[in-house]
Amino acid sequence: EMQDTDYRPNFHFTPKENWMNDPNGMFYLDGTYHLFYQYHPESSTWGTMHWGHATSKDMISWQHQPVALFPDEHGWIFSGSAVVDKNNTSGLGSDGQVPIVALFTYHDMEGEKSGRDDFQTQGMAYSLDKGKTWIKYKNNPVLKNPGIRDFRDPKVTWDAQRNQWVMALATYEKNLFYTSKDLIDWEFASDFGEGIGAHGGVWECPDFIPMKVQGTDTVKWVLIQSLNPGAYNGGSGTQYFVGDFDGKTFTPESYVNDLGEKHDYWIDFGKDNYAGVTWNNAPGGRTLFIGWMSNWEYANVVPTETWRSTSTIARELKLHLVDGVYRISSAPVMELDSYLDKSFTKASMELSKGSTIVSVDDVSLSKTELSFEIPKLEDKDYKFLLTNAIGDSLTFGYDHSKAQFYIDRSKSGKVDFNENFAKKPSVAPRISDNENLSVTVLLDKTSIELFFDKGTTVMSEIFFPKNSFLEFKSLSNHTFLITDLKASELKL
Ligand code: FRU
Repeated sequence: EMQDTDYRPNFHFTPKENWMNDPNGMFYLDGTYHLFYQYHPESSTWGTMHWGHATSKDMISWQHQPVALFPDEHGWIFSGSAVVDKNNTSGLGSDGQVPIVALFTYHDMEGEKSGRDDFQTQGMAYSLDKGKTWIKYKNNPVLKNPGIRDFRDPKVTWDAQRNQWVMALATYEKNLFYTSKDLIDWEFASDFGEGIGAHGGVWECPDFIPMKVQGTDTVKWVLIQSLNPGAYNGGSGTQYFVGDFDGKTFTPESYVNDLGEKHDYWIDFGKDNYAGVTWNNAPGGRTLFIGWMSNWEYANVVPTETWRSTSTIARELKLHLVDGVYRISSAPVMELDSYLDKSFTKASMELSKGSTIVSVDDVSLSKTELSFEIPKLEDKDYKFLLTNAIGDSLTFGYDHSKAQFYIDRSKSGKVDFNENFAKKPSVAPRISDNENLSVTVLLDKTSIELFFDKGTTVMSEIFFPKNSFLEFKSLSNHTFLITDLKASELKL
Protein backbone atom coordinates (compact mmCIF):
# COMPACT_ATOMS: atom_id res chain seq x y z
CA GLU A 1 0.00 0.00 0.00
CA MET A 2 1.26 3.46 -0.93
CA GLN A 3 2.12 5.90 1.79
CA ASP A 4 4.22 8.94 2.55
CA THR A 5 7.28 8.81 0.25
CA ASP A 6 5.36 6.87 -2.42
CA TYR A 7 2.98 9.79 -2.57
CA ARG A 8 5.68 12.30 -3.37
CA PRO A 9 5.28 13.59 -6.94
CA ASN A 10 8.16 13.52 -9.42
CA PHE A 11 7.94 16.77 -11.31
CA HIS A 12 6.10 19.04 -8.91
CA PHE A 13 7.84 20.92 -6.13
CA THR A 14 7.57 19.49 -2.60
CA PRO A 15 9.56 20.38 0.50
CA LYS A 16 12.29 17.89 1.34
CA GLU A 17 10.63 17.39 4.68
CA ASN A 18 7.94 18.97 6.84
CA TRP A 19 5.22 21.47 6.12
CA MET A 20 4.79 23.87 3.19
CA ASN A 21 1.97 26.20 2.18
CA ASP A 22 1.89 29.31 -0.05
CA PRO A 23 4.52 30.03 -2.71
CA ASN A 24 6.29 33.30 -1.84
CA GLY A 25 8.72 35.80 -3.30
CA MET A 26 9.26 34.19 -6.69
CA PHE A 27 11.67 36.01 -8.96
CA TYR A 28 13.85 35.21 -11.95
CA LEU A 29 17.44 36.38 -12.38
CA ASP A 30 20.30 35.34 -14.67
CA GLY A 31 18.87 32.00 -15.75
CA THR A 32 17.55 30.94 -12.35
CA TYR A 33 13.97 30.80 -11.13
CA HIS A 34 13.64 31.27 -7.39
CA LEU A 35 10.77 29.90 -5.37
CA PHE A 36 10.28 30.66 -1.69
CA TYR A 37 7.45 29.18 0.31
CA GLN A 38 5.69 29.20 3.65
CA TYR A 39 7.62 26.63 5.60
CA HIS A 40 7.54 25.04 9.04
CA PRO A 41 10.96 23.39 9.44
CA GLU A 42 10.07 21.62 12.66
CA SER A 43 6.85 19.84 11.82
CA SER A 44 4.67 18.50 9.05
CA THR A 45 1.74 20.63 10.15
CA TRP A 46 1.38 24.43 9.97
CA GLY A 47 3.18 26.42 12.69
CA THR A 48 6.10 28.82 13.14
CA MET A 49 6.44 30.21 9.64
CA HIS A 50 9.73 30.67 7.79
CA TRP A 51 10.49 31.15 4.11
CA GLY A 52 11.86 27.97 2.57
CA HIS A 53 13.79 28.36 -0.68
CA ALA A 54 14.39 26.38 -3.88
CA THR A 55 15.91 27.21 -7.27
CA SER A 56 15.39 25.88 -10.76
CA LYS A 57 16.51 26.43 -14.32
CA ASP A 58 13.13 25.50 -15.75
CA MET A 59 10.47 25.60 -12.95
CA ILE A 60 10.20 21.78 -13.14
CA SER A 61 13.27 20.31 -11.44
CA TRP A 62 14.06 22.09 -8.23
CA GLN A 63 17.12 22.27 -6.01
CA HIS A 64 16.51 22.71 -2.31
CA GLN A 65 18.27 25.70 -0.75
CA PRO A 66 18.78 26.69 2.88
CA VAL A 67 15.88 28.39 4.67
CA ALA A 68 15.89 32.03 3.57
CA LEU A 69 13.94 33.92 6.24
CA PHE A 70 13.62 33.10 9.94
CA PRO A 71 11.22 34.59 12.47
CA ASP A 72 12.60 37.45 14.56
CA GLU A 73 11.45 39.84 17.30
CA HIS A 74 8.72 41.20 14.99
CA GLY A 75 7.10 37.82 14.45
CA TRP A 76 6.78 34.81 12.17
CA ILE A 77 7.38 35.27 8.45
CA PHE A 78 4.10 35.05 6.57
CA SER A 79 3.52 35.34 2.82
CA GLY A 80 4.89 38.04 0.56
CA SER A 81 6.85 38.78 -2.58
CA ALA A 82 10.28 39.71 -3.88
CA VAL A 83 11.41 41.99 -6.69
CA VAL A 84 14.61 42.44 -8.62
CA ASP A 85 15.47 46.09 -7.98
CA LYS A 86 17.43 46.60 -11.21
CA ASN A 87 17.70 50.36 -10.91
CA ASN A 88 18.64 50.19 -7.24
CA THR A 89 15.63 52.36 -6.36
CA SER A 90 16.03 51.14 -2.78
CA GLY A 91 19.62 52.31 -2.59
CA LEU A 92 20.45 49.02 -0.89
CA GLY A 93 22.89 47.88 -3.58
CA SER A 94 26.34 49.32 -3.96
CA ASP A 95 29.05 48.87 -6.61
CA GLY A 96 26.57 47.84 -9.26
CA GLN A 97 24.97 45.09 -7.16
CA VAL A 98 21.34 44.42 -8.02
CA PRO A 99 19.41 44.18 -4.75
CA ILE A 100 16.60 41.65 -4.48
CA VAL A 101 14.01 43.10 -2.13
CA ALA A 102 11.47 40.96 -0.31
CA LEU A 103 8.35 42.36 1.32
CA PHE A 104 6.52 39.98 3.64
CA THR A 105 4.13 39.93 6.56
CA TYR A 106 5.36 39.72 10.12
CA HIS A 107 2.84 37.82 12.22
CA ASP A 108 3.32 38.63 15.90
CA MET A 109 1.91 35.62 17.75
CA GLU A 110 2.17 37.30 21.16
CA GLY A 111 0.26 40.29 19.82
CA GLU A 112 -2.45 38.05 18.47
CA LYS A 113 -2.74 36.11 21.74
CA SER A 114 -3.01 39.30 23.75
CA GLY A 115 -6.08 40.26 21.73
CA ARG A 116 -4.59 43.22 19.85
CA ASP A 117 -5.66 43.90 16.27
CA ASP A 118 -2.34 45.19 14.94
CA PHE A 119 -0.29 41.99 15.07
CA GLN A 120 0.40 41.85 11.31
CA THR A 121 2.90 44.33 9.85
CA GLN A 122 4.98 44.36 6.67
CA GLY A 123 8.67 43.70 6.90
CA MET A 124 11.46 43.92 4.37
CA ALA A 125 14.62 41.94 3.72
CA TYR A 126 17.12 42.15 0.90
CA SER A 127 19.72 40.05 -0.77
CA LEU A 128 22.92 41.30 -2.36
CA ASP A 129 24.00 37.88 -3.61
CA LYS A 130 21.19 37.10 -6.04
CA GLY A 131 18.85 35.61 -3.46
CA LYS A 132 21.26 33.30 -1.65
CA THR A 133 21.39 35.07 1.71
CA TRP A 134 19.10 37.69 3.16
CA ILE A 135 19.56 40.69 5.41
CA LYS A 136 16.59 42.02 7.37
CA TYR A 137 16.08 45.73 6.93
CA LYS A 138 17.18 47.65 10.01
CA ASN A 139 14.02 49.72 10.49
CA ASN A 140 11.40 47.02 10.19
CA PRO A 141 8.49 47.04 9.88
CA VAL A 142 8.34 49.21 6.76
CA LEU A 143 4.56 49.31 6.92
CA LYS A 144 2.86 49.48 10.30
CA ASN A 145 -0.58 48.19 11.04
CA PRO A 146 -3.34 50.84 11.21
CA GLY A 147 -5.52 48.58 13.37
CA ILE A 148 -6.73 45.95 10.88
CA ARG A 149 -6.77 42.31 12.01
CA ASP A 150 -6.14 40.75 8.59
CA PHE A 151 -3.45 42.88 6.99
CA ARG A 152 -1.09 40.75 4.99
CA ASP A 153 0.58 39.15 1.98
CA PRO A 154 2.19 42.13 0.20
CA LYS A 155 2.71 41.55 -3.52
CA VAL A 156 4.88 44.15 -5.20
CA THR A 157 5.00 44.99 -8.92
CA TRP A 158 6.84 47.62 -10.94
CA ASP A 159 4.52 50.16 -12.55
CA ALA A 160 6.68 51.18 -15.51
CA GLN A 161 4.32 53.90 -16.68
CA ARG A 162 4.55 55.83 -13.43
CA ASN A 163 8.03 54.77 -12.37
CA GLN A 164 6.81 53.46 -9.06
CA TRP A 165 6.31 50.26 -7.13
CA VAL A 166 2.78 49.12 -6.37
CA MET A 167 1.89 46.87 -3.47
CA ALA A 168 -1.36 44.95 -3.19
CA LEU A 169 -2.14 43.98 0.38
CA ALA A 170 -5.06 41.86 1.48
CA THR A 171 -7.42 42.68 4.31
CA TYR A 172 -10.50 40.65 5.17
CA GLU A 173 -12.97 42.12 2.68
CA LYS A 174 -10.83 44.16 0.28
CA ASN A 175 -7.37 44.87 -1.05
CA LEU A 176 -5.35 47.91 -0.19
CA PHE A 177 -2.96 49.41 -2.74
CA TYR A 178 0.18 51.24 -1.66
CA THR A 179 2.81 52.89 -3.83
CA SER A 180 6.49 53.60 -3.29
CA LYS A 181 9.49 55.02 -5.10
CA ASP A 182 12.07 53.06 -3.08
CA LEU A 183 10.38 49.93 -1.65
CA ILE A 184 10.85 51.39 1.84
CA ASP A 185 8.42 54.31 2.21
CA TRP A 186 4.93 53.18 1.33
CA GLU A 187 1.99 55.47 0.76
CA PHE A 188 -1.64 54.36 0.83
CA ALA A 189 -3.23 54.84 -2.63
CA SER A 190 -6.68 53.22 -2.75
CA ASP A 191 -8.67 50.10 -2.01
CA PHE A 192 -10.71 47.69 -4.06
CA GLY A 193 -13.09 44.83 -3.64
CA GLU A 194 -15.74 45.48 -1.04
CA GLY A 195 -18.93 43.87 -2.32
CA ILE A 196 -17.31 42.67 -5.55
CA GLY A 197 -16.77 38.98 -6.30
CA ALA A 198 -16.77 36.14 -3.80
CA HIS A 199 -16.46 36.94 -0.09
CA GLY A 200 -17.26 33.70 1.68
CA GLY A 201 -14.12 34.11 3.78
CA VAL A 202 -10.97 36.19 4.04
CA TRP A 203 -9.20 37.71 1.04
CA GLU A 204 -5.53 36.70 1.08
CA CYS A 205 -2.45 36.57 -1.15
CA PRO A 206 -3.30 39.07 -3.90
CA ASP A 207 -1.26 39.56 -7.04
CA PHE A 208 -1.61 42.74 -9.06
CA ILE A 209 0.07 42.76 -12.47
CA PRO A 210 -0.13 44.30 -15.91
CA MET A 211 -0.88 41.80 -18.70
CA LYS A 212 -1.02 42.24 -22.43
CA VAL A 213 -4.30 41.22 -24.05
CA GLN A 214 -3.52 38.43 -26.53
CA GLY A 215 -3.41 39.60 -30.12
CA THR A 216 -3.34 43.32 -29.19
CA ASP A 217 -1.02 45.90 -27.66
CA THR A 218 -3.52 46.72 -24.95
CA VAL A 219 -2.36 46.30 -21.39
CA LYS A 220 -4.83 45.56 -18.62
CA TRP A 221 -4.20 45.25 -14.90
CA VAL A 222 -5.19 41.95 -13.37
CA LEU A 223 -5.90 41.38 -9.71
CA ILE A 224 -5.49 37.75 -8.75
CA GLN A 225 -7.27 37.28 -5.45
CA SER A 226 -7.19 34.25 -3.21
CA LEU A 227 -10.11 33.62 -0.89
CA ASN A 228 -10.50 31.19 2.02
CA PRO A 229 -13.07 29.76 2.57
CA GLY A 230 -15.70 30.48 -0.08
CA ALA A 231 -14.11 29.14 -3.27
CA TYR A 232 -16.15 27.76 -6.18
CA ASN A 233 -16.10 24.21 -4.79
CA GLY A 234 -15.61 25.19 -1.16
CA GLY A 235 -12.62 26.08 0.97
CA SER A 236 -9.65 27.80 -0.64
CA GLY A 237 -9.54 29.17 -4.19
CA THR A 238 -8.38 32.02 -6.38
CA GLN A 239 -10.54 34.44 -8.37
CA TYR A 240 -9.44 37.27 -10.63
CA PHE A 241 -10.60 40.73 -11.66
CA VAL A 242 -9.51 42.72 -14.71
CA GLY A 243 -9.44 46.49 -15.16
CA ASP A 244 -7.27 49.59 -15.48
CA PHE A 245 -4.85 51.22 -13.10
CA ASP A 246 -3.97 54.92 -13.19
CA GLY A 247 -1.14 54.77 -10.70
CA LYS A 248 -3.47 55.15 -7.72
CA THR A 249 -6.82 53.52 -8.34
CA PHE A 250 -7.86 50.20 -9.86
CA THR A 251 -10.96 50.65 -11.99
CA PRO A 252 -12.46 47.29 -12.90
CA GLU A 253 -14.25 46.59 -16.15
CA SER A 254 -17.94 47.34 -15.71
CA TYR A 255 -18.96 43.66 -15.78
CA VAL A 256 -16.56 43.06 -12.89
CA ASN A 257 -18.56 45.44 -10.70
CA ASP A 258 -21.54 43.12 -11.12
CA LEU A 259 -19.77 39.93 -10.05
CA GLY A 260 -21.34 38.41 -6.97
CA GLU A 261 -20.64 35.33 -4.87
CA LYS A 262 -21.16 32.78 -7.65
CA HIS A 263 -19.19 33.99 -10.63
CA ASP A 264 -16.97 32.10 -13.08
CA TYR A 265 -13.73 34.09 -13.01
CA TRP A 266 -11.44 31.65 -11.20
CA ILE A 267 -7.83 30.87 -12.01
CA ASP A 268 -8.66 27.25 -11.23
CA PHE A 269 -11.99 25.65 -10.28
CA GLY A 270 -10.55 22.52 -8.66
CA LYS A 271 -10.14 22.25 -4.92
CA ASP A 272 -6.36 22.36 -4.90
CA ASN A 273 -4.79 25.52 -6.21
CA TYR A 274 -4.44 28.23 -3.61
CA ALA A 275 -2.41 31.36 -2.88
CA GLY A 276 -0.85 31.29 -6.35
CA VAL A 277 1.03 34.34 -7.60
CA THR A 278 3.38 35.21 -10.47
CA TRP A 279 7.15 35.47 -10.90
CA ASN A 280 8.78 38.86 -10.80
CA ASN A 281 11.13 39.71 -13.69
CA ALA A 282 10.16 36.66 -15.75
CA PRO A 283 12.04 36.57 -19.05
CA GLY A 284 10.34 37.26 -22.37
CA GLY A 285 7.42 39.08 -20.81
CA ARG A 286 5.81 35.80 -19.80
CA THR A 287 3.33 35.70 -16.92
CA LEU A 288 4.44 32.67 -14.91
CA PHE A 289 2.36 31.39 -12.02
CA ILE A 290 2.58 28.71 -9.38
CA GLY A 291 0.09 27.82 -6.65
CA TRP A 292 -0.07 25.69 -3.53
CA MET A 293 -1.82 22.46 -4.52
CA SER A 294 -3.93 22.05 -1.40
CA ASN A 295 -6.88 23.49 0.46
CA TRP A 296 -7.10 24.73 4.05
CA GLU A 297 -10.09 22.41 4.57
CA TYR A 298 -7.74 19.44 4.86
CA ALA A 299 -4.16 20.55 4.12
CA ASN A 300 -2.91 19.65 7.61
CA VAL A 301 -4.26 16.10 7.56
CA VAL A 302 -3.55 14.74 4.08
CA PRO A 303 -2.05 11.24 4.44
CA THR A 304 1.65 12.01 4.23
CA GLU A 305 3.76 12.35 7.35
CA THR A 306 7.37 13.28 6.71
CA TRP A 307 6.48 15.99 4.18
CA ARG A 308 3.25 17.78 3.45
CA SER A 309 1.98 19.69 0.41
CA THR A 310 2.87 20.10 -3.23
CA SER A 311 3.01 23.06 -5.58
CA THR A 312 0.95 23.10 -8.77
CA ILE A 313 2.81 22.72 -12.01
CA ALA A 314 4.23 26.12 -12.99
CA ARG A 315 1.88 27.69 -15.51
CA GLU A 316 1.93 30.39 -18.11
CA LEU A 317 -1.08 32.68 -17.89
CA LYS A 318 -2.53 34.59 -20.82
CA LEU A 319 -5.22 37.24 -20.98
CA HIS A 320 -7.89 37.11 -23.70
CA LEU A 321 -10.75 39.38 -24.64
CA VAL A 322 -13.69 37.06 -25.38
CA ASP A 323 -17.20 38.34 -26.08
CA GLY A 324 -16.58 41.57 -24.22
CA VAL A 325 -15.05 40.06 -21.09
CA TYR A 326 -11.50 39.26 -20.08
CA ARG A 327 -10.53 35.64 -19.46
CA ILE A 328 -7.30 34.21 -18.15
CA SER A 329 -6.10 30.94 -19.63
CA SER A 330 -3.43 28.71 -18.09
CA ALA A 331 -1.12 26.11 -19.54
CA PRO A 332 1.68 24.07 -18.00
CA VAL A 333 4.93 25.89 -18.81
CA MET A 334 6.39 24.65 -22.10
CA GLU A 335 9.56 23.70 -20.19
CA LEU A 336 7.64 20.62 -19.01
CA ASP A 337 7.74 19.21 -22.52
CA SER A 338 11.45 18.50 -22.34
CA TYR A 339 10.56 15.79 -19.80
CA LEU A 340 8.21 13.98 -22.18
CA ASP A 341 9.50 10.47 -22.63
CA LYS A 342 7.89 7.71 -24.65
CA SER A 343 4.97 9.28 -26.50
CA PHE A 344 2.28 7.90 -28.72
CA THR A 345 -0.05 9.82 -30.96
CA LYS A 346 -3.25 8.90 -32.75
CA ALA A 347 -5.15 10.97 -35.26
CA SER A 348 -8.42 9.34 -34.28
CA MET A 349 -9.60 6.68 -31.88
CA GLU A 350 -13.08 5.35 -31.30
CA LEU A 351 -13.97 4.93 -27.65
CA SER A 352 -16.65 2.77 -26.17
CA LYS A 353 -17.26 2.14 -22.51
CA GLY A 354 -14.18 0.60 -20.96
CA SER A 355 -11.82 1.32 -23.85
CA THR A 356 -8.29 2.06 -22.79
CA ILE A 357 -7.25 5.50 -23.97
CA VAL A 358 -3.75 5.81 -22.68
CA SER A 359 -1.38 2.90 -22.38
CA VAL A 360 1.99 4.08 -21.20
CA ASP A 361 4.13 2.22 -18.66
CA ASP A 362 3.07 4.48 -15.86
CA VAL A 363 -0.14 6.39 -16.37
CA SER A 364 0.38 8.03 -12.99
CA LEU A 365 3.28 10.03 -14.45
CA SER A 366 1.94 11.26 -17.75
CA LYS A 367 0.73 14.11 -19.87
CA THR A 368 -2.12 13.48 -22.29
CA GLU A 369 -3.71 15.81 -24.76
CA LEU A 370 -6.91 14.83 -26.53
CA SER A 371 -9.91 16.39 -28.14
CA PHE A 372 -13.35 15.32 -29.30
CA GLU A 373 -16.42 16.79 -30.95
CA ILE A 374 -19.48 17.51 -28.86
CA PRO A 375 -22.54 17.61 -31.07
CA LYS A 376 -24.61 20.59 -29.89
CA LEU A 377 -27.91 18.80 -29.50
CA GLU A 378 -26.72 15.67 -27.77
CA ASP A 379 -26.72 16.02 -24.00
CA LYS A 380 -24.11 13.43 -23.32
CA ASP A 381 -21.69 12.80 -20.50
CA TYR A 382 -18.08 12.35 -21.59
CA LYS A 383 -16.58 10.45 -18.73
CA PHE A 384 -13.03 9.27 -18.07
CA LEU A 385 -11.65 6.89 -15.50
CA LEU A 386 -8.33 6.42 -13.78
CA THR A 387 -8.06 3.15 -11.94
CA ASN A 388 -5.76 0.51 -10.46
CA ALA A 389 -5.94 -3.25 -9.83
CA ILE A 390 -7.48 -2.88 -6.38
CA GLY A 391 -10.37 -0.78 -7.61
CA ASP A 392 -9.45 2.73 -6.51
CA SER A 393 -10.80 5.12 -9.09
CA LEU A 394 -10.99 8.73 -10.02
CA THR A 395 -13.44 9.95 -12.61
CA PHE A 396 -13.56 13.21 -14.47
CA GLY A 397 -15.21 14.55 -17.56
CA TYR A 398 -17.69 16.83 -19.16
CA ASP A 399 -21.44 16.69 -18.72
CA HIS A 400 -22.83 18.48 -21.77
CA SER A 401 -26.39 18.66 -20.38
CA LYS A 402 -25.09 20.96 -17.64
CA ALA A 403 -22.19 22.43 -19.63
CA GLN A 404 -20.11 21.36 -16.68
CA PHE A 405 -16.75 19.71 -16.10
CA TYR A 406 -16.27 17.57 -13.02
CA ILE A 407 -13.82 15.55 -10.96
CA ASP A 408 -15.03 12.86 -8.57
CA ARG A 409 -12.38 11.58 -6.16
CA SER A 410 -14.79 9.92 -3.72
CA LYS A 411 -13.40 6.42 -4.50
CA SER A 412 -9.84 7.47 -5.17
CA GLY A 413 -8.25 5.66 -2.21
CA LYS A 414 -7.66 7.34 1.13
CA VAL A 415 -10.40 9.92 1.42
CA ASP A 416 -11.70 9.74 4.97
CA PHE A 417 -8.99 11.82 6.67
CA ASN A 418 -11.33 14.79 6.34
CA GLU A 419 -15.05 14.99 5.65
CA ASN A 420 -14.68 17.73 3.04
CA PHE A 421 -12.08 15.97 0.93
CA ALA A 422 -14.51 13.94 -1.15
CA LYS A 423 -17.93 15.03 0.05
CA LYS A 424 -19.11 15.84 -3.47
CA PRO A 425 -17.61 15.96 -6.94
CA SER A 426 -16.06 19.28 -7.89
CA VAL A 427 -17.62 21.04 -10.84
CA ALA A 428 -16.58 23.82 -13.20
CA PRO A 429 -18.49 25.71 -15.87
CA ARG A 430 -17.56 25.27 -19.49
CA ILE A 431 -16.73 28.77 -20.68
CA SER A 432 -15.87 28.04 -24.30
CA ASP A 433 -18.70 27.15 -26.69
CA ASN A 434 -16.48 25.54 -29.28
CA GLU A 435 -17.88 22.31 -30.74
CA ASN A 436 -14.49 20.78 -30.30
CA LEU A 437 -13.45 20.13 -26.73
CA SER A 438 -9.79 19.69 -25.87
CA VAL A 439 -8.16 18.74 -22.62
CA THR A 440 -4.63 18.37 -21.32
CA VAL A 441 -4.44 15.88 -18.46
CA LEU A 442 -1.38 16.06 -16.25
CA LEU A 443 -0.86 13.24 -13.75
CA ASP A 444 1.90 13.07 -11.18
CA LYS A 445 1.18 10.19 -8.77
CA THR A 446 -1.10 12.13 -6.44
CA SER A 447 -2.45 14.96 -8.53
CA ILE A 448 -4.50 15.65 -11.62
CA GLU A 449 -4.40 18.98 -13.41
CA LEU A 450 -6.97 19.41 -16.17
CA PHE A 451 -6.64 22.19 -18.72
CA PHE A 452 -9.88 22.25 -20.69
CA ASP A 453 -10.41 24.26 -23.88
CA LYS A 454 -6.75 25.40 -24.05
CA GLY A 455 -6.75 26.28 -20.38
CA THR A 456 -9.91 28.38 -20.37
CA THR A 457 -11.31 26.20 -17.57
CA VAL A 458 -8.80 24.58 -15.25
CA MET A 459 -9.28 22.04 -12.46
CA SER A 460 -6.50 20.81 -10.17
CA GLU A 461 -6.98 18.21 -7.47
CA ILE A 462 -4.91 15.89 -5.30
CA PHE A 463 -5.72 12.29 -4.35
CA PHE A 464 -4.15 9.42 -2.43
CA PRO A 465 -4.76 6.01 -4.01
CA LYS A 466 -3.71 2.86 -2.16
CA ASN A 467 -1.86 1.79 -5.30
CA SER A 468 -0.80 3.87 -8.29
CA PHE A 469 -3.36 4.48 -11.00
CA LEU A 470 -2.35 2.34 -13.96
CA GLU A 471 -5.25 2.64 -16.36
CA PHE A 472 -6.83 5.55 -18.15
CA LYS A 473 -10.12 4.59 -19.79
CA SER A 474 -13.38 5.84 -21.17
CA LEU A 475 -16.36 5.43 -18.88
CA SER A 476 -18.96 7.05 -21.10
CA ASN A 477 -22.06 5.05 -21.88
CA HIS A 478 -21.86 6.04 -25.52
CA THR A 479 -19.29 5.54 -28.22
CA PHE A 480 -17.44 8.59 -29.47
CA LEU A 481 -14.39 9.57 -31.42
CA ILE A 482 -11.38 11.26 -29.95
CA THR A 483 -9.01 13.07 -32.26
CA ASP A 484 -5.46 14.27 -31.95
CA LEU A 485 -4.52 12.06 -29.05
CA LYS A 486 -1.02 12.52 -27.72
CA ALA A 487 0.01 10.70 -24.56
CA SER A 488 3.48 10.81 -23.05
CA GLU A 489 5.26 9.53 -20.04
CA LEU A 490 7.10 12.05 -17.99
CA LYS A 491 10.59 11.34 -16.77
CA LEU A 492 12.83 13.55 -14.69
C1 FRU B 1 -2.70 31.82 2.93
C2 FRU B 1 -2.15 32.31 4.26
C3 FRU B 1 -1.65 33.73 4.12
C4 FRU B 1 -0.64 33.83 5.22
C5 FRU B 1 -0.04 32.46 5.22
C6 FRU B 1 0.40 31.97 6.56
O1 FRU B 1 -2.68 30.44 2.79
O2 FRU B 1 -3.14 32.22 5.25
O3 FRU B 1 -2.66 34.70 4.17
O4 FRU B 1 0.29 34.85 4.99
O5 FRU B 1 -1.01 31.58 4.68
O6 FRU B 1 1.12 30.79 6.47
